[in-house]
Amino acid sequence: MRDLTAIAAALVAPGQGILAADESIATMSARLAAAGIEPTASSRLSYREMLVTTPALADGISGIILCGETFGQRLDNGTPFPAAIRRAGMLTGIKVDAGTRPLAGCPGETVTEGLDGLPPRLRDFARRGAAFAKWRAVLRIGPGTPSAMALRANAQALGRFAADCQHAGLVPIVEPEVLMDGSHSLAQCEAVTSLVLLEVTAALQDYGVAFEAMVLKPNMALPGAESAEQASPDQVAEATIASLASLPATLGGVAFLSGGQRPEQATANLAALNSPALNSPALNSPALNSPALGTPPLLLWPLTFSFGRALVAPALAAWPGTRAAQRAGQRALARRVAMNVAALQGRYASELELDAA
Ligand code: 13P
Repeated sequence: MRDLTAIAAALVAPGQGILAADESIATMSARLAAAGIEPTASSRLSYREMLVTTPALADGISGIILCGETFGQRLDNGTPFPAAIRRAGMLTGIKVDAGTRPLAGCPGETVTEGLDGLPPRLRDFARRGAAFAKWRAVLRIGPGTPSAMALRANAQALGRFAADCQHAGLVPIVEPEVLMDGSHSLAQCEAVTSLVLLEVTAALQDYGVAFEAMVLKPNMALPGAESAEQASPDQVAEATIASLASLPATLGGVAFLSGGQRPEQATANLAALNSPALNSPALNSPALNSPALGTPPLLLWPLTFSFGRALVAPALAAWPGTRAAQRAGQRALARRVAMNVAALQGRYASELELDAA
């Protein structure tokens, strides 16, 4: 029997985060095409091989999330991806949801599908080398959204997914994403994210999920991408930590998605989330930890990254698209990993970005 609590702890170990390289075939193909690379199964494979074989990646990356296509592919030397990732000292994750579909009765909203036949699929992935699995729900802030129905439907699916994972011997990465799209304020995003996490926590509890054997992957609280509001990293960190107030103390850890933030912005916000000032015992003392005072909650969980675009976008931009020319992409990925590790360890400053460039 696997020790899922130990796997969850390893995923959010100090100074480490998760690399999300699990874009669907359609999304990955669109990103390759936008970078001027022909979007074939072979170029998707070469791109993922470039990422996972980055030298010393395990220094800052605990686990890599793959999509089903990559999970079943082999590196040029014949090694299956899960085995290559394990040999490089990291854990393999698998995205198991089937993407979003319109939610009937809730115009403009979606529910994530993929629960049918999930338990045997999870057991199969576990047998083939997966240590953890991911499911992403998507909520949108707009007039009247997210609706109570969309919140409930998506939270229920996350609860079932997480319980099924733990029964199959996999650590669930529970990802309820409140999109950055829209013109909402930071305060609105904080309020909606709080509500979403409350609903998701209740569903996880209903399904008997062991919180210590899972990792939550939420969005940071941010002003909408079309909003004129500017939020400093400290403001983002404060709003984000407030949005986590309903999470149980026993949760294994929190690994944020990047959600379309610029890479440097995601790193600066992660650094603020891990800043000693925000997490100081004084700020988080029980006396101050009162909703009436509006102070941040006591922080009990590691806060790390599970970034997709904020880690890989510079690597894709730098990669010429061939197996023979991996180094430029790998250097760009290694640089972003190093910046985010610095953020976790309280060593990040924007000047570092200049030194590394
Ligand atoms: P981003 O960091 O690009 O938002 O991706 C994270 C992810 O795993 C989306 O499902």
